[in-house]
Formats: sequence, C-alpha cells, structure tokens
Amino acid sequence: MDIKLPRGTQDILPSDTAKWQVVEELIREQCRMYHYKEIRTPVFEHTELFTRGVGDTTDIVQKEMYTFQDRGNRSLTLRPEGTASVVRSFVEHKMFGYPDQPVKLYYMGPMFRYERQQAGRYRQFVQFGMEAIGSSDPAIDAEVISLAMSIYKRAGLKSLKLVINSLGDTESRIAHREALVNHFEPHIEEFCSDCQNRLQKNPLRILDCKIDRNNPLMETAPSLTDYLNEESAAYFAKVKEYLTMLNIDFEVDPNLVRGLDYYNHTAFEIMSTAEGFGAITTLAGGGRYNGLVAELGGPDSPGIGYAMSIERLLLAMEAEKIEFPDTTSLDVYLVAMGEEAKKKVTELTFELRKHKISADMDYLERKVKAQMKSADRLKAKAVIVIGEDELEKQSVMLKDLSTGTQQLVPFTSLIDEVKKLTEAK
Ligand code: HAM
Repeated sequence: MDIKLPRGTQDILPSDTAKWQVVEELIREQCRMYHYKEIRTPVFEHTELFTRGVGDTTDIVQKEMYTFQDRGNRSLTLRPEGTASVVRSFVEHKMFGYPDQPVKLYYMGPMFRYERQQAGRYRQFVQFGMEAIGSSDPAIDAEVISLAMSIYKRAGLKSLKLVINSLGDTESRIAHREALVNHFEPHIEEFCSDCQNRLQKNPLRILDCKIDRNNPLMETAPSLTDYLNEESAAYFAKVKEYLTMLNIDFEVDPNLVRGLDYYNHTAFEIMSTAEGFGAITTLAGGGRYNGLVAELGGPDSPGIGYAMSIERLLLAMEAEKIEFPDTTSLDVYLVAMGEEAKKKVTELTFELRKHKISADMDYLERKVKAQMKSADRLKAKAVIVIGEDELEKQSVMLKDLSTGTQQLVPFTSLIDEVKKLTEAK
C-alpha cells in the first residue's frame, strides 16, 4: 500500500500525544481559573457562515477553505476557525439571554485551511480559542490577553512578545478607509492583483499584503492610530492601562491589522522571539468583534477573543527546550515464569487495574529475561514476578525498580503494598 498522509496533516504518534495531553490539561486548567466554559461546535458549517462571518475578501475565504457539496446539494465548509461557529451558536441558542453575562467560552479542536505547508503551518491544525461575548468593558480585553499570556507563561515560555493595536470603531474605520483609498489609488497598478481588488473592498488588508510589503507606499500609508475618534482612543487607552496594571508587557504596532474582517477596537498578536522557532513567529492572535453577533442575526452584543494552535505552542516549547513530565510510565509490569504462573499473572494484572494501578504483562510468551527487559523499557515503577515457588507460597515477588529492593508479598496484601510503593514515587 502506498497511501500516505494528505499534505499539511500530521499523525500525532504515541510518543508525542503525552505532550499534547500535558498542554491541553494546562489550558483547560487556566480556563477554569478564568471561568471560561468549554463549547463544542461541529467541524463543518454552512459555507455562508464563514463568507459572512470571516469576510469574503479575506484570504481564508477566498483561498483557504475546504468547501464541498453534500449529497443534499448544500454547500458546507470545514471550519477554518472557531469564532464564527461560536457566535452562530451564541445566537442560535440565545445565549444573550443567559443570566450570567458576558458569556465566556473556550474551544479546542481541529480547524482546516488550505495553506502552503511549512513548519508551524498545516492544513489541519488544532486551535484552542476563547470568546467573551456580551461586554465592552476594556477590562475584559485585558482579561482575554492575560489568559493567553498566562498559558504561555505556565507552559514555561520566556521569549514572548505581545503586540497590540486598535482598529477603532466604525466611524474611525470609515475615516481611515477613505484616507487609505486616497493614498493607494493613484499608484494601485504597482500593487499585486489581490491588492487591486482590496482597494475598494477592504483597503486595510493591503497593509497586510506579503507580496507588496516592501513597497514604499506601505511605510507612508495613513496610520489607523491617527484616525481613531475620541471614544475609540479612550477605549484603547483604558485597555493599555489595564495591561500595565496587570504587569503585561506590550508593544503598540499601528500596522497590526489581522487577517479576518470582523475585528474592531483591540487587535493583538503574541509572537515567539525564541531562536529556532522558525519563520512564522505568531503564536496567537485575536481581538474585538463588536459587530459580528449582529451580522450573524443576533442582538448588538460586543465580543472579544483569541485563538492559537497547539502545534505552534509545542514548537515554541521545543525551541525553548522545555522538558515535559513523563505521564506515560507504568506502575507495574508482571512477569510470569511458567504456564500456571501466567494464569495468576493475568488475573492479578486485571485486578490491579481495577484498583487504579496501571499494569501490563507479556503477551508474546517471552522468556523471563525478555519480560524483565520490557519492564525496564516501559519504565515501570515496580515488577511483580510469579513462579512456582511464589504460587506455592500464595505470594508474589515485588521489586522496586528504582531501588532494586524486593520483598515477598502475599496475594492478600498485594494491592496495598503496590499502592504504597507506586504512590511514594
Ligand atoms: P487567526 O489569526 O487566523 O485567528 O488564527 C489564530 C491562530 O491559529 C494563529 O495565531 C496560529 O496559532 C493558529 N493558526 C492559524 N492558521 C494555522 C495553520 N495553518 N497552522 C497552524 N496554526 C495555525 C483566528 O482564527 C481567530 N478566530 C482568532 C479569534 C478568536 N479572534 C477572536 N476570537
């Protein structure tokens, strides 16, 4: 058989899943601390959700979606991100009527984008994201950013940079948009065809163009910051004040625009500055989306959130040489010497497991020496050996593999003795 993985996907092998579980648990724990609750939405949605939600001029919608027709001729799309789905669900289940507002949600699951594969960029990746919907208090902007930073800090990352910007409210954006069109229009033929399309549809996205990023007109383009109206500027000032109060370092980058259409006011990205992290330095991105709930048919509820991929978090941890605790080791390996002993070993292996002791045994009829080797390789904390002698004495030989000491333990007190030994490790 010569069938391989589809490009841009990965098998996460047993030698790596333990790392995933460690960071997933860390994330869930941080979400509990900040009182965000998990939501699970489908992996595919109606295509229109993303064309309207993410925006039909974005790269995601134009170039990256896995869209297909189902057997009932509906156009469906594998979700490229989580925010649109969460907001759809918020509206569909009338969460705006929940007594506890804002509604604070998080999600973790696979997302799909047809992108060029490179380290840190995949076609299927696992995104963790969170959304706080129903509040336009700048303190919650700081909370969202703080949760993101706290996860990276708890994971042990040190080389981090937080970049923030304000995209302003609708009025500020219209003023800035006009200024951008006036700035680029006379020279638009110097720009790529995507930018030419963006000029009227969404000129802000020109600033994010990778092809034309060295065009001198980029440097002199009108900055959003200069077009923020008083209210937007005051909002941004408060967000910065809260971040300072929480001792969260940040840089303001007036060119940070983000690649999705729904953003306004606060936008941010977190980068890894670790050597060896790779060409893509962004670990996470997010921002405020005050118009999205209304756009998707709900009331005018403000929202803010962010997302990151677990893959990039793990790459950054690898670049910073962070060690993972070994969560896969075995409590006990049971070794049988002879036919009769094998029966007892089988019985005891299953018995130990009922008492929440992880246990394994040989299924390949290997010699005792090979069984002992397995115990070592599996990093078992203890070995139980049963042969004819032990059977006669209704006992087992229990060996502590870290100290090498061993003792004869009667079947009747085995569970207690094993617990004593393994729990002490
Ligand atoms: P985004 O910037 O498109 O925003 O993606 C957020 C994060 O997802 C990125 O910073 C990166 O960690 C990860 N990511 C994106 N594409 C890939 C890929 N191809 N391979 C690996 N990782 C990737 C959003 O998705 C927004 N929904 C974030 C948000 C939530 N804004 C408000 N709420």
